[in-house]
Amino acid sequence: MSTLPIGIFDSGVGGLTVLRAVRDRLPHESVIYLGDTARVPYGTKSPATIERYAVEDASFLVEKGVKMLLVACNTASAMARERLRAEFQIPLLSVLGPGARMAARVTRNGRIGVIATEATIESGAYVRAIEDASGDKQVEIFARACPLFVPLVEEGETDSAITRLVAEQYLAPLRAQEIDTLVLGCTHYPLLKRVIGETMGSAVTLVDSAEATAEETAHVLAQHGLLNQVPGASSSEFYVTDAARRFHRIAEKILGEPLPHLEAVEIWGHDRLHTS
Ligand code: DGL
Repeated sequence: MSTLPIGIFDSGVGGLTVLRAVRDRLPHESVIYLGDTARVPYGTKSPATIERYAVEDASFLVEKGVKMLLVACNTASAMARERLRAEFQIPLLSVLGPGARMAARVTRNGRIGVIATEATIESGAYVRAIEDASGDKQVEIFARACPLFVPLVEEGETDSAITRLVAEQYLAPLRAQEIDTLVLGCTHYPLLKRVIGETMGSAVTLVDSAEATAEETAHVLAQHGLLNQVPGASSSEFYVTDAARRFHRIAEKILGEPLPHLEAVEIWGHDRLHTS
């Protein structure tokens, strides 16, 4: 069991920031990544649609024989994590929990900002998760949707004048609230860390949910006795539902290395296969 891969999914390329962090933290682990590039973005879709997509994504990976599921999409985490937990009998971690817990831990003045897609912000899932993780600590949370950040990242505009302009427009109100912690609540946003950091100023700690998730993945695997102890045998497989060449180009840029295995697949109806 412990030598099986970890299954990671996202609506597109954003979850690669999580995959990268997992590979840095757990170099012996094999991974299978699914990017649902045919249906990205999830962040503008309805809750019912996002939940259905998430179940299909997870079913595909479970049928591939993974030992653990990582929901590397904040939008899918916000909408579907309870349903996924109920439906799949393997350890599951979604990016939302680790990000929220880290924000609750690092804030000093209790004023926390969250930026994410429209669907994630509207769900209120981050606010609830941060409040839960804060316990008795008093926190005030300021949430803001930043819909233009995803297409800017996908177009490779990670550090350009236009991105800085958009960042200023989105983030100035959060700066005015004197937050000391900002959760990057979308898997694309760590790729804009430099611009977001410079826009917010050095007094604000950025919480990268990818790094927090990699750390918690190690704990979950250890808890279940699933850490791979066999060094040197790790592999990575990548699947997309459309536009493999575009994914390939962006993925190599994010990961900084060639992709070993990339295949386009159809996953429609995978939830029916799983539940029948
Ligand atoms: N990966 C998504 C997230 O983390 C952002 C892209 C999308 O809207 O699908 O929320």
